[in-house]
Amino acid sequence: MKNRITSLFNITYPIIQAGMIWNSGWRLASAASNSGILGLIGAGSMYPDVLREHIQKCKAATDQPFGVNVPMLYPNIEEIMEIIVAEGVKIVFTSAGNPKTWTSWLQDKGIIVVHVVSSVKFALKAQAAGVDAVVAEGFEAGGHNGRDETTTLTLIPMVKEQLEIPLIAAGGIATGSAMLACMVLGADGVQVGSRFVASEESSGHPDFKQVVVDAKEGATQLTLKELAPVRLIKNKFFNDVQELYKTGPSAEELKNLLGRARAKRGMFEGDLDDGELEIGQISGLIHDIKPVAEIVKDMVAEFEEAKKNIASL
Ligand SMILES: Cc1cc2nc3c(=O)[nH]c(=O)nc-3n(C[C@H](O)[C@H](O)[C@H](O)COP(=O)(O)O)c2cc1C
Repeated sequence: MKNRITSLFNITYPIIQAGMIWNSGWRLASAASNSGILGLIGAGSMYPDVLREHIQKCKAATDQPFGVNVPMLYPNIEEIMEIIVAEGVKIVFTSAGNPKTWTSWLQDKGIIVVHVVSSVKFALKAQAAGVDAVVAEGFEAGGHNGRDETTTLTLIPMVKEQLEIPLIAAGGIATGSAMLACMVLGADGVQVGSRFVASEESSGHPDFKQVVVDAKEGATQLTLKELAPVRLIKNKFFNDVQELYKTGPSAEELKNLLGRARAKRGMFEGDLDDGELEIGQISGLIHDIKPVAEIVKDMVAEFEEAKKNIASL
């Protein structure tokens, strides 16, 4: 396959393995890059020194292009960016912040910059900030999300209508047919998160991966809109948040309940009751834990099959 996204990143298939806190370390990213897609290390859950180690291990494990995802809402961003430059990383996906802050600084150092958005307005802001491509992420997606609840099916064509730079669709994509659908709607590539949580190489806790495999339609919901909207599995912690909502809590009270390190506790340490379990709606379609290479191979085969089937209409 060859298009604007494969050319931009120098990869075989226009698929990005999403940056995901507590799940996408060097093992997942290098396996993705070795499978012909773009692997991303998720810096959001890493102290600067930990990130440096993951980048170095990733470089040793693959000679293919890979990148780092930097959610700008976490501390130590300056240090994180310095490490990315010092280690010679060539691709950065920024999210959860203003794309103006880092784009030209990174590009001046020869780094390709992509920014993640959840609306047309922010896609255009990212384009104006000079990013090389945009990820538009729909309401279905796992992890942090926009407040407007715009689904991938509606977001992608609306962004496409106005955006000129390459567009990557995200949210609800775990199969080759969903990938084809997004590309028909105007995307140049897709970013896949939840499907790669249920991979052998993800650093998520095995019990969390099993929750993803067991999840059925309706198992997740977007919550905590007052703080930072996030899609979670409806476990005990989620229910505790809903109980607190009944009392009309302040943002402060919600913050107190959330406390610290909930996401680590849930996804990395496997505390399925009191931890935060971030995953997308498409978990209802994920039935197994597979090696990354197999996930990619299956997606590409499904994509080709779906293309053939639709051509015969
Ligand atoms: C467990 C998990 C953690 C995530 N962490 C991040 C993150 O650190 N930074 C980010 O930009 N997006 C994060 N996301 C969103 C993904 O990058 C991606 O856009 C999203 O998962 C795509 O939707 P999907 O889950 O339906 O494939 C996360 C998603 C999941 C499932």
